[in-house]
Amino acid sequence: MAKIGLFFGSDEGNTEGVAYRIQARLGADLVDVHDVADVTVLDFEDYEYIILGIPTWDFGQIQSDWEDFWGDIGSVDFTGKTVALFGLGDQFGYGDYFLDAMGMLHDVVVANGAAIVGYWSTEGYEFDASKAQVPGEPLFMGLAIDQDQQEDLTADRLNRWCEQIHGEFGLDTPIVNLDD
Ligand SMILES: Cc1cc2nc3c(=O)[nH]c(=O)nc-3n(C[C@H](O)[C@H](O)[C@H](O)COP(=O)(O)O)c2cc1C
Repeated sequence: MAKIGLFFGSDEGNTEGVAYRIQARLGADLVDVHDVADVTVLDFEDYEYIILGIPTWDFGQIQSDWEDFWGDIGSVDFTGKTVALFGLGDQFGYGDYFLDAMGMLHDVVVANGAAIVGYWSTEGYEFDASKAQVPGEPLFMGLAIDQDQQEDLTADRLNRWCEQIHGEFGLDTPIVNLDD
């Protein structure tokens, strides 16, 4: 069975928690979870299907471990790989920079050949600007999670997005909905 590599960075644990909630839905046998603080570019070579998780910090900046890895991720060849992204942010606290880092990561992996799945509607979010929004479209470049302002919506969003990417990855493995 082809495995999925999930790579996350997290300062305060929110993105890490969401990473393991995604793994719990798609299956621990299927999804290998990696903290990007502990990986090298070689770890990406093992996977055809990849999930990337990134929060935005300090007014539109990349999370610190992703920032340390930025030169490396820019050298990964994503040709032939399918990638889904999820981002964490705070839409009311940082509405001019909501999820910007997810947009920046999206642009790097697209430039390096990735096919992207997991686009997500902007409906239900309030923000003024986001680099993670597809220009001119009511879509984010990946799943948008806001643990600061909409924590109660996260479980349902994860259920629906995991169903979506499971189909888009073309998997026939079991999947579960959770109320976590
Ligand atoms: C000082 C500070 C700056 C932040 N800057 C942004 C931002 O520019 N854009 C955004 O969407 N969220 C921003 N956030 C919200 C974080 O992305 C959010 O709390 C996220 O869940 C943190 O994830 P982590 O615990 O995995 O690091 C900021 C939060 C703090 C405390």
